[in-house]
Amino acid sequence: MPETPVDKISEADAAEELVRLADELAAHDLRYHGEDAPTISDADYDALKIRAFALEARFPHLTPENSPSLRVGAQRSEKFAPVEHGAPMLSLDNAFADEEAVEFDTRVRRFLRLSADETVSYTAEPKIDGLSCSIRYERGVLVQAATRGDGRVGEDVTANVRTIGDIPKRLSGEGWPEVIEIRGEIYLSHEGFLALNAAATEAGQKTYANPRNAAAGSLRQIDSKITAQRPLAFFAYAWGAMSAPFARSQWDALQALKTWGFATTPQSRRVENADGLLTAYAAMEAVRPKLAYDIDGVVYKVDRLDWQHRLGFVTRTPRWAIARKFPAQQARTVLEAIDIQVGRTGAVTPVARLHPVTVGGVVVVNATLHNADEIARKDIRVGDTVILQRAGDVIPQIVSVVLDERPAEAEPFAFPTHCPCPLHTPLERETTAAGAATVVRRCSGEFACPFQRLAHLRHFVSRRAFDIEGLGEKQLTLFTEQGWLASPADIFRLHEHREAMLQLDRFGETSVGNLLESIETRRNIALDRFIYGLGVRHVGETTSLALARHFETVERFVETAKAAAEQMAGPVYAELSNLEGLGPTAVSAVLEFARSGQTILAPQDISFESHLRLAIPKLNSRARAALVVRFSDWATFETAAKQGAAETPGDAFIEVASVDAVGVVAARMIAEFFGEDHNRVLVDSLLAELSVIPAERPKSDTAVAGKTIVFTGALEKMTRDEAKAQAEALGAKVSGSVSKKTDLVVAGPGAGSKLKTATDLGIDVITEDEWLALAGG
Ligand code: IVH
Repeated sequence: MPETPVDKISEADAAEELVRLADELAAHDLRYHGEDAPTISDADYDALKIRAFALEARFPHLTPENSPSLRVGAQRSEKFAPVEHGAPMLSLDNAFADEEAVEFDTRVRRFLRLSADETVSYTAEPKIDGLSCSIRYERGVLVQAATRGDGRVGEDVTANVRTIGDIPKRLSGEGWPEVIEIRGEIYLSHEGFLALNAAATEAGQKTYANPRNAAAGSLRQIDSKITAQRPLAFFAYAWGAMSAPFARSQWDALQALKTWGFATTPQSRRVENADGLLTAYAAMEAVRPKLAYDIDGVVYKVDRLDWQHRLGFVTRTPRWAIARKFPAQQARTVLEAIDIQVGRTGAVTPVARLHPVTVGGVVVVNATLHNADEIARKDIRVGDTVILQRAGDVIPQIVSVVLDERPAEAEPFAFPTHCPCPLHTPLERETTAAGAATVVRRCSGEFACPFQRLAHLRHFVSRRAFDIEGLGEKQLTLFTEQGWLASPADIFRLHEHREAMLQLDRFGETSVGNLLESIETRRNIALDRFIYGLGVRHVGETTSLALARHFETVERFVETAKAAAEQMAGPVYAELSNLEGLGPTAVSAVLEFARSGQTILAPQDISFESHLRLAIPKLNSRARAALVVRFSDWATFETAAKQGAAETPGDAFIEVASVDAVGVVAARMIAEFFGEDHNRVLVDSLLAELSVIPAERPKSDTAVAGKTIVFTGALEKMTRDEAKAQAEALGAKVSGSVSKKTDLVVAGPGAGSKLKTATDLGIDVITEDEWLALAGG
């Protein structure tokens, strides 16, 4: 129903609508702040709020008690102890257009009685899209950290905030007041967000909608060990209560925060007058797509703190600052087709092909549809007008369908039953080892499927695998079409097509030369990269490195993997050995029992659990519980145990599966991969082109083997990554934070809180030079 314009609405209707809006907004606030799971977009939320404020402006006496205009933020949850802020944490008024930014400057001048030709300086800072946090320091030491909460009272998240590397436990530099609340934004980078969601997907857990929700969810964990594993970061941009002033302008304050050990936003600038505000906004819009994290606007702040003081606050927002928001990252467009994309491992994902539309400055033509279930759930049909959103600036998604505009002939989407590749393999829903259907559908064509082949080649040349520069999707497709590329080994024979390549459009001497050169340098490849490059399912970087370290040479690895293929563990064996609650001892006890052929004459009415206890006394109660849950009765269990025993793998398989970080599931994938003729041919022909550098086993006879080391401060002779690799090669573990478990701290110039903690805990601290001597000697 279209809403009645504000100037036409009756008082009674307005009263009713205001109450409804206030309740609705409160519910959204709770979902957003309290549960980190909003159900509407920011733009829709803003629209509701704007409508409410407009109605209140016309009928101020109708303002409901729970109106958002009388409140900041949301109610607190009961999870964390309440903390009263020393000074309230307020929010900012929003501006959505140039004119509103100009009006802001006019208001400031009017309030301060400044003439139009007087210069007013402002800071223009990116508005970081995370969650604000107030961190209290007393005598330079972090004593408490709190979320914003309702602005007056927040939640005590001290333990969690202490795990964030960007936040000093102790202030460095000088000039800080004895007591000060430092304020800023906790956020997750795009990379951190994607990694977190990828891990959640892998573990079958729910994913976060955007980096901001992920940051909020990560911070509000009961167990700070979980927070510690999340790559949270922090930018400082303000302060609350303090025992003494420390700066005269916002700009100087930002510089001071930096010298005290905080990260401040590098894109912040100081500008003058209304013109400066507009230029700064345009500049921020331009850098936005290049940033590693989300920003949702620009915050303008009057630079002079004495002026800020004079300007003061209106009920809930300062007069001296305003947030100029970027336009909503949503757009409407028409879904023209749904294509099926085939990934490296044959997993099939639907992709929406859209009528091109600009969403927040970027032209979007594709959007992910995740899987068949999601299309069905949202009932997305070809021809539909859809609402598109660039979720957290990362991947465009379809939020919903505009049903009113659905064409009469639009039909529910029928997910293809066969792979669109020329092989036309049937697409089946994948099942887990336990037989449950998953959302994944897969093409079984492997290398014979041209789509998988391309995806495979892309993985092979990717940065963490063979890292071949200049060989992107375009080139791979083109060379495949030319018939030069069918398998990874062909990449190393591309030089044979040098002349023909030079005839192709847009391939000059230089680009061809560079490409062939970068291929040549990769003929020498580390074993772990080689293994990762094969793109075996479930064999990621960590598993590849563990395999490389275990087998040391490619010959040993390939030989064992091929042997493992002959003696692979069957699915029932795999399931038993992966059953949660069933440790290795319990698994062997079950298999031993099954092999013994023993039958236990048990009384008729004995429970399954007691039967297990009688038959396999070695099982503990946890193992019995796991088996009861999985098999529900003795007969089913006995059949499975016998089947599992019959499927027991041979030594080669067991060797692969027992490598640290591999396990039976990945081992089965490796064995299956090497069990296929075409994969063996692929590997052998690749090896004919390469020289694979053996991996070094982590040393156990060095001074630092088995120790936990923390690097802090600036390193002058090597990069952090180098130092880490060096320490790991010597058998040490490298950690990002100092704790009782740390054995050694290597501190360079500028080392701050970590060094202090180390000294406090009595941990050995050495310089970079001393480390190099230790590592080299
Ligand atoms: S200043 C009294 N500066 O935006 C004003 N806020 O809508 C104190 N934010 O709650 C805030 N970047 O969570 C300020 N550079 C920045 C900011 C920023 C992001 C957030 C913060 C605040 C919200 C206001």
